[in-house]
Amino acid sequence: MKFFVDTAEIAEIRALAATGLLDGVTTNPSLIAKSGRNILDVIAEICEVVSGPVSAEVAATEYEQMMKEAKVLRQIAKNVAIKVPLTPDGLRVCHALAKEGTQVNVTLCFSPAQALLAAKAGASFISPFVGRLDDIGQNGMELIADIVQIYGNYPSIKTEVLVASIRNPIHLIEAAKMGADVATIPPGVIKQLYHHPLTDKGLSAFLADWAKTGQSIA
Ligand code: E4P
Repeated sequence: MKFFVDTAEIAEIRALAATGLLDGVTTNPSLIAKSGRNILDVIAEICEVVSGPVSAEVAATEYEQMMKEAKVLRQIAKNVAIKVPLTPDGLRVCHALAKEGTQVNVTLCFSPAQALLAAKAGASFISPFVGRLDDIGQNGMELIADIVQIYGNYPSIKTEVLVASIRNPIHLIEAAKMGADVATIPPGVIKQLYHHPLTDKGLSAFLADWAKTGQSIA
């Protein structure tokens, strides 16, 4: 499973890239707003740090303007994936960009039917939002299971399932068990993945016993 980080904060991205665990980055207009930076500058900086796909989202909603924005964004670096919303115009943009060899991440997916449309439009990634479905009392993980099953029925579908709106490690592990291709994870949840109380307890015991030996290795 590929790990993307869901942030536009360059310091966090640099730190995660240094771990060797990072396969890509996703941003959205809210994350860009939170960074307080210009989208073109921040995407360029992220692309210098990460060689995998970096999703940059268009802000327009009408086809011609979305295409203009997509062309500006994709010129930033070869690894920019253009993010478009799952709307009729968004999927038309997806189809046009995919034909030109540009990676497209179709976002704001909340149903298996929408995921099927995105695959037919040639999306490189479909982003179903699990947390936001949970928030309204639906089961976000069921959507992932449905999409993985449907895509798996058709070997010609090359669209990768990119699980988005992840809120906790359980979302990630359930998605991995289902065989989802990618998870985009907030930095705080990535930090949670490392921790287990038995790891902390075991390490403390090892260190205490080691100190009794009076040895040093290097
Ligand atoms: C990523 O591509 C999405 O924009 C993001 O995961 C949304 O997460 P949120 O529902 O926590 O805002």
